[in-house]
Amino acid sequence: MTDAPLAPHPDPAAGSAAPSALADRDGVLAELSAHVSRAWASFEHPRPVEPAPDADLVRRLGRGLPDVGDDLSVALEDAAHVLDSSVSTARPLFLAYVPSSALETGVLASALSSAYDANLATSAGTADLLDRQAVHWLAEFLGYPAAEGHFTSGGQTSNFTGLLAAREHARPGSREHGVTPGSAAVYASEEAHHSVVRAVEAAGLGRRAVRWVPTDDQRRMRPADLEALVRADLEAGVVPVAVVATAGTTLTGTVDPLGEIAAVCERHGVWLHVDGAYGIPAAATASHGHLFAGLARADSVTVDAHKWLGMPKSCSALLVRHHGVLRATFGHEEHYMLHEGDTGNPVDSTFEYSRPLRALRFWLSMRVHGAARFRAWLEGTLEVTRTFVDAVRAHPEFELRHDPMLTTVCFRHLPPTGEGERPLSGGALDRHHVALAQALQHDGRVFLAPAELDGVTVLRACFTNFRTDAASAAGVLDVISEVAASLR
Ligand SMILES: Cc1ncc(COP(=O)(O)O)c(C=O)c1O
Repeated sequence: MTDAPLAPHPDPAAGSAAPSALADRDGVLAELSAHVSRAWASFEHPRPVEPAPDADLVRRLGRGLPDVGDDLSVALEDAAHVLDSSVSTARPLFLAYVPSSALETGVLASALSSAYDANLATSAGTADLLDRQAVHWLAEFLGYPAAEGHFTSGGQTSNFTGLLAAREHARPGSREHGVTPGSAAVYASEEAHHSVVRAVEAAGLGRRAVRWVPTDDQRRMRPADLEALVRADLEAGVVPVAVVATAGTTLTGTVDPLGEIAAVCERHGVWLHVDGAYGIPAAATASHGHLFAGLARADSVTVDAHKWLGMPKSCSALLVRHHGVLRATFGHEEHYMLHEGDTGNPVDSTFEYSRPLRALRFWLSMRVHGAARFRAWLEGTLEVTRTFVDAVRAHPEFELRHDPMLTTVCFRHLPPTGEGERPLSGGALDRHHVALAQALQHDGRVFLAPAELDGVTVLRACFTNFRTDAASAAGVLDVISEVAASLR
């Protein structure tokens, strides 16, 4: 590839009747298809090395706004190179941050829905039926009796939406009047995701409204402590707005005891929101479904289909158990869009306005693969995790830092010591893990990130990708120890 100055190229849309029509659509679709196909082929196995970006390409990325258009094939080629030399969470050994893995059917659905560009803010016709069907399929898959729900832009938005519904339920009229500072409380375990705090802040409750419920020796929210906190607030005249239980915490994959938490909520009439952004797909499995007993009693549930259900980002959903709670929270009238009587538009029950047909990704994937295949894939990643955990336990250079409930594993590398050498400990061992994670990311065979667990720095492997197989997962430890040896 050269870095020749831009020559004027014929605008691919020039002379065509429609301003944005391409001259050779079929030709360019064939090129795009070749790029996508190359990407998919490269995801089939871990890459031995990550390709460095082409120097000319990097230079081109520093250029200013083009006044004259470039050739479409050349531009597409550049785009594909950029992506190929970028971090992709779809690669089988990208194991950081509960990743999504861009299942092929989800990618096809994204392309098709972008082409039609339906807007799920207003009534979109038949697409609304598909959207509703996908919501109900998702709920059925998880075993949650959803009355309604919506696909959203992410777990953050789904959690926020659930919290806004809870706020309006606990304090009817808070949409209109706001909430007096210090008058409301939200309860979450110490392992809850930060999006819960951000949602509390954005809902105008103030961060101090969050009550951090202590956890037990399995890192699960303690229902008795929750009950005590709720009672104390009620006695003090503070309104409990919601309990946010986590079904698969981000750090350790812990599932809070949903049934016992639901009982506390029911006793005091408090809204139960379950943040299952990462872990809730395991509710559909025979091996781990029991961990989610009580889920059906939640008032609202967040699930990110773009995490452990393999959809390309972003494809989250917020499900609610009762009809009408979302409309009570978001229903409105404006002059530029009349909402006819009770039918309303989706935007009357969502936080977001313009929304693509995200549901199509999940719908097409379930339609083509079926729920049984998804359950088998989920069991597969749980199995891969067990293989990895056994390997960590058996390896003299590694230490398991918790017993994982789902597919997130925190572990440490303990560098072997030579004659008379003292083993690394304390801050030096923490720094070793940060340096090791950076070196691994640079090496590229395995993508891992550091995390902090119980005050020490660890490596955290998250198995949510259906492409990760047990053999390559077991080989991860050898890669880590080889890269660690190169640091010494
Ligand atoms: C438990 C949990 N909740 C919420 C989120 C936020 O999700 P998103 O990144 O889709 O907004 C995450 C992200 O990792 C998560 O793990």
